[in-house]
Amino acid sequence: RIVFLNGSFLPIDEAKVPFMDRGFMFGDGVYEGIGVLNGRLVDNEAHLERLERSLKEIQIPNPYSRAEWTRLEEELVRRNNMTEGFVYFQVTRGVAERDFFFPTDARPTVAMFTQAKSIANAPAAEAGISVITVPDMRWERRDIKSINLLAQVLAKQAAKEAGAQEAWMVQDGYVTEGGSSSAFIVTKAGSIVVRPLSNAILPGITRKSLLQMSREDGIVLEERLFTVNEAYDAAEAFLTSASNFVVPVVRIDGRPVADGKPGPVTKRLRQLYLQMAA
Ligand code: PDD
Repeated sequence: RIVFLNGSFLPIDEAKVPFMDRGFMFGDGVYEGIGVLNGRLVDNEAHLERLERSLKEIQIPNPYSRAEWTRLEEELVRRNNMTEGFVYFQVTRGVAERDFFFPTDARPTVAMFTQAKSIANAPAAEAGISVITVPDMRWERRDIKSINLLAQVLAKQAAKEAGAQEAWMVQDGYVTEGGSSSAFIVTKAGSIVVRPLSNAILPGITRKSLLQMSREDGIVLEERLFTVNEAYDAAEAFLTSASNFVVPVVRIDGRPVADGKPGPVTKRLRQLYLQMAA
């Protein structure tokens, strides 16, 4: 398996990051994850735009232009012969003696890898998954795609231990988002409900494409907060992410959503998304 680290493509076992990297010491960095279908990057421009924003918010200079990032991603996909899966990359503030203040002379560390995985025909995506709800314990700038993922690690582990595949995080009774996905419900009248963008959630790229597709398809959108109870009573529920696209949610906290089977709106959106990405 070949990865990219600071300008070189090399076997993963040879890719070493220095002990004092601020990503390791402070979680001082940001990341991106992009889906790959039929060997092509899905929505790459939008991911690079979000990367630029994340870097700017924490004042790390962007080491590459969009064209350079794209070339690196494509080369890594090609070198790993990957046709379907996920490209991950992160940028940290670099290597410096441990001190909270920004170092004056560090260069950002850039690490990128691929994970082969089936997305279009994933069985869970056809059958639907279970989620549990947990308190959202994260910081107040969730719009930045920070590599600090401790709250999400704990939330998703709790989900796994409860026999579920994702955790929906809840603040003041309202669902914020999934541990690594955006959360949606469909009302009995057939409209899609999703939380509006703010500092409380990550601006999901799959979310953005899905909303655009839905608008073009004539589906009614409600960008507003929704409660856990509203999700329990919904006609359908689903999640979106770059690594899974559109996945039906068929149980929430052990209760079946409607009849506990993927609903028609979710199925249609999954189909539309796969067509767009292919
Ligand atoms: N997670 N919300 C959170 C908290 C996320 O971590 C993610 C993505 C999303 C969905 O965003 P997008 O559609 O741009 O992938 C929403 C990635 C896939 C991960 O951490 O693996």
